[in-house]
Amino acid sequence: MSAYRRGDITLVHAEATEFLRELPAACLSLVVTDPPWNTGGVRRGANGCAYDDALPVADYEALMTTFFEETFRVIEPSGTLAVWADYRFIPYLAVWGDRVWGAQRRVGEIIVESLLGNPGKARWPVKHSTILLFARTPDRQRFDHAALPDVPRRPGGAVRRESNGKAYSYGTEKKAASVLSATLSNTDPQRVGYPDQKPEWVYETLIRAFTLPGALVADPFAGSGTCGAACESTGRACLLADRSSQAIETVTKRLRLTEV
Ligand SMILES: C[S@@+](CC[C@H](N)C(=O)[O-])C[C@H]1O[C@@H](n2cnc3c(N)ncnc32)[C@H](O)[C@@H]1O
Repeated sequence: MSAYRRGDITLVHAEATEFLRELPAACLSLVVTDPPWNTGGVRRGANGCAYDDALPVADYEALMTTFFEETFRVIEPSGTLAVWADYRFIPYLAVWGDRVWGAQRRVGEIIVESLLGNPGKARWPVKHSTILLFARTPDRQRFDHAALPDVPRRPGGAVRRESNGKAYSYGTEKKAASVLSATLSNTDPQRVGYPDQKPEWVYETLIRAFTLPGALVADPFAGSGTCGAACESTGRACLLADRSSQAIETVTKRLRLTEV
């Protein structure tokens, strides 16, 4: 396994489950990851990078079951697992995750709405993905509600006028709940061209909500290294892995890592 580093960010060129197997038990505060969604094709980015995203369901189940087993072992008692995918396999991932973690440890989910691209008119548009949340010990999960983003309280204004003529003010903002609106536009300076790159602020939000400064966070399906960028901006240490040489090249460039 070749490794690359700068400061508190380490990247390993490895298959995700082999990378996790090398870690000691209970060493991570958070695993936040966006594994292959098994969309049934090849995912291609603007920079020429691509990865195969079409495993037979039994192979995908085997990969993700081992992933759930290893994350259960390496996440500390107050830690969290956040797994991001879409409608195609989220129901399967919930079941496969529950089999290993236990349904009582699946404590919620976040719907991530993206406004990118034309949704088309042939069928009901799918413009969201989902992050499943598992707590290693639900009643001891570290969580900071203040980390949630503020969102407008009501579209069109903060004042509601009741039928009795009285106006009630609710303030202009409240904390986000189950839905985050997160669009990474094609011209965003964050873009490195890697397929399926995610916005840094979603990772930053989860990292702030579920870990303390200085904590150790991991993403074993790192892609372009968004988790590493988010750990750097929030002051957390980060372990990244990906099996693709193109991902390794992209992350080392994006995060200015050197081989160790
Ligand atoms: C959805 S992309 C991650 C994108 C990332 N969140 C970002 O913002 O750039 C999934 C990544 O998982 C990697 N991958 C797929 N199967 C893998 C495996 N078994 N082990 C390690 N990496 C894998 C792919 O190479 C791809 O880079």
